[in-house]
Amino acid sequence: MNITNHQSLSYKRNKLFIDNHCINSITKDIKTPFYLYSVKAIENNYLNFSKEAIKNKLHNPLICYALKANSNIHLLKVLKKLGAGADIVSGRELKQALKAKISPQKIVFSGVGKKEEEITLALNCHKEGIYSFNVESIEELEMIGKVAKSLNKQARVALRLNPQVNVKTHKHISTGGKSHKFGILKEDIEAALKKKKLWKNINLIGMSTHIGSQLTCLKATEKALNELSKLCLSIGHNLEFIDVGGGLGVPYNHDQPLSSLSDYMKLVSKVFKRYFKEMPRIVFEPGRYIVANSGLLITEVIRTKKSADNKFIIVDGGMNDFVRSSLYGAYHHVLPVSKRSGKRSPCHVVGPICETADSFASYRELPPLKSRDRVCIGDVGAYGHTMSSTYNMREKVKEYVIDLDGKLLK
Ligand code: LLP
Repeated sequence: MNITNHQSLSYKRNKLFIDNHCINSITKDIKTPFYLYSVKAIENNYLNFSKEAIKNKLHNPLICYALKANSNIHLLKVLKKLGAGADIVSGRELKQALKAKISPQKIVFSGVGKKEEEITLALNCHKEGIYSFNVESIEELEMIGKVAKSLNKQARVALRLNPQVNVKTHKHISTGGKSHKFGILKEDIEAALKKKKLWKNINLIGMSTHIGSQLTCLKATEKALNELSKLCLSIGHNLEFIDVGGGLGVPYNHDQPLSSLSDYMKLVSKVFKRYFKEMPRIVFEPGRYIVANSGLLITEVIRTKKSADNKFIIVDGGMNDFVRSSLYGAYHHVLPVSKRSGKRSPCHVVGPICETADSFASYRELPPLKSRDRVCIGDVGAYGHTMSSTYNMREKVKEYVIDLDGKLLK
């Protein structure tokens, strides 16, 4: 049975199993709420991604996993072993990637607010610094040049194009529009390339773009990659790589139409083949695709409450532990860890936080649930724990990982 996007989640005799392990048996002594991740799911996702890139003849692809989706050290070590690089956005993400032994030569640094000390860290972590700073403004380029000069180094840099496309996703996570803070407009890139003094301690080795997250259709991606290719060719500079960013969507809800991994890779390959006789290296920055379906948030029913026609299931996980439903109105499956028999009815699954937005699901058809029953929120491996907080003075939610032998890692 495929009940979430997770390939190996199924009910057997009304008990929920993950990778053939009964969730109740392996986690019954752990205090809720907590995240549970499957190494097997992450391995599958990474290998699918890389196989599909190779199948589509993308030259020497580098998959820089976006740590912002999930920076759990066990998962990073698994990805490192499989060959992944890292897309980072802060000094602490850089340290975490290095702790997982990801090579600096496979690390790209994105983000509009890189600080001087973070740039220094990135330049100092290897003889040549990290693989690439994906630069988001001319002002940032100047700062990188200044820091590199003071360290007597050459920084490796890609310019992130703002391709001015409108993306079909939640407005909070669309990043490729003219009014957005991300990337550099084409005319500003062209002007910067003419200013010799900007490039003294900087090697331009790539171009990049990233237009948004949870992209369900590829139209805007195609437009952005066309723009990026044209720019790469027009600047007449030999580039080592093109970074296409992340953003591939996942099926949180089975009713949602969605472009597949295979459609995505075919498109990337088609666009670059059209423009380049000799294709540069393609860098990818997937986050959600690699980890979303690997994670569950396991939480316990505190009590149920009836009010007028509303039936509330009040659980001990809240919007501070997992915020996607509250922040983006995102759909996530709600699955009882042990299913009780009885008639399903529409329920609101809510947390204990003092905000009406503290809700995981509304009018969700669920079987009967009682106090102390455990339920899990599905497909929360991406942007779950990394966006959690201690709001309402709650403890930071814990994470556990099931490895390939079924061992539970803390
Ligand atoms: N590269 C850059 C420069 C990014 O900003 C992001 C995500 C990625 C790669 C990875 O994108 P992905 O493959 O995961 O879509 N909190 C939101 C998502 C924010 C995405 C931020 N940037 C959510 O829960 O939907």
